Amino acid sequence: MIFSRIAGVGSCLPGAPVTNDDLVQRGVDTSDEWVTERTGIKSRYLADDHCRTSDLALEASQKALESAKMAAEEIDLIIVATTTPDYIFPSTACFLQARLGVKGAMAFDVQAVCSGFVYALIVAEKFIRSGSHKKALVVGAETFSRILDWKDRGTCVLFGDGAGAVVLEASDKPGILAAAAYADGSQAAVLSVPGAVHGGKVVGDPFLRMDGQAVFKFAVHALSEIAVECCAQAGIQMQDVDWLIPHQANLRIINSIGKKLKIGTDKIIITVDRHGNTSAASVPLALDAAVRDGRIRRGQKVLLEGVGGGFTWGAVLLEF
Ligand code: ACO
Repeated sequence: MIFSRIAGVGSCLPGAPVTNDDLVQRGVDTSDEWVTERTGIKSRYLADDHCRTSDLALEASQKALESAKMAAEEIDLIIVATTTPDYIFPSTACFLQARLGVKGAMAFDVQAVCSGFVYALIVAEKFIRSGSHKKALVVGAETFSRILDWKDRGTCVLFGDGAGAVVLEASDKPGILAAAAYADGSQAAVLSVPGAVHGGKVVGDPFLRMDGQAVFKFAVHALSEIAVECCAQAGIQMQDVDWLIPHQANLRIINSIGKKLKIGTDKIIITVDRHGNTSAASVPLALDAAVRDGRIRRGQKVLLEGVGGGFTWGAVLLEF
């Protein structure tokens, strides 16, 4: 039987941290007190005007390949989860492939907003388990600041830019133990960028719009339920999970999920305070941070969870 396991992890954050006070200095009508109290976010990283999503994806991928001790030529599948691609087309995955200096590997993007990385990991796992592909680069990368309305203080303070990547490879031992993913397109209006390019112009609205309280309630419910589902699929209890890595949207959402699942905060990886919400990059950025600082170790059970616009939501339970 073919399984898939994570062989390496990497990440990239652009520039220097931008604190809540820095945002106030830049003219956002907010305060460190408000943002900290409502979200737990203290700072985020923001890409400059020249930085593309593929720049961040490239650095995260190179680090993941290095940690897997693998050459880019060995990769036969590249999936990039992003909501902020370099171009409408080609895909950011194709740009990433070219910038890695390789040709041939199947390459495409996945668009599931903040669930994108978990969706992409599930897709890559299916390819590997089918036997058609052996070594996949799975990336979540965003320059999300490009789609923020800096005059909308209810949203612009929440997000940041960055990328995280993993190398997923075929293995005779599991690896990925369980996975689930869902979507509910009927709730698109709750969280969206309701614009499109048409006839050379942006038609509609090019910025993120959100009903924050509706997102909050949905995220807590969806991520609690899907965590229980993944554990049941793998035949384990929630208490057997060593580390929970939920989508890093808001500390209050994360704490509510922990409470519902009866998991202490000492078992939850949290980076939202330093990174803000980096959409598809949030989960692999948090994974990489916790692997590099030694908290997540080989053999431990890790539950990754994403939720985002669509709505979309998904989870992957794995043995690291
Ligand atoms: N600074 C200061 N005041 C602000 C700010 C800000 N940045 N933003 C809003 N306010 C004000 C509002 O104007 C309002 O003022 P008023 O009472 O005078 O009208 C007041 O604060 C309360 O506004 P609400 O929007 O009701 O605040 P709420 O308590 O709902 O908190 C928040 C907003 C933080 C967005 C919350 O709803 C939330 O965390 N939702 C989850 C959304 C989320 O995390 N989305 C991420 C994207 S989706 C995803 O990744 C899954």
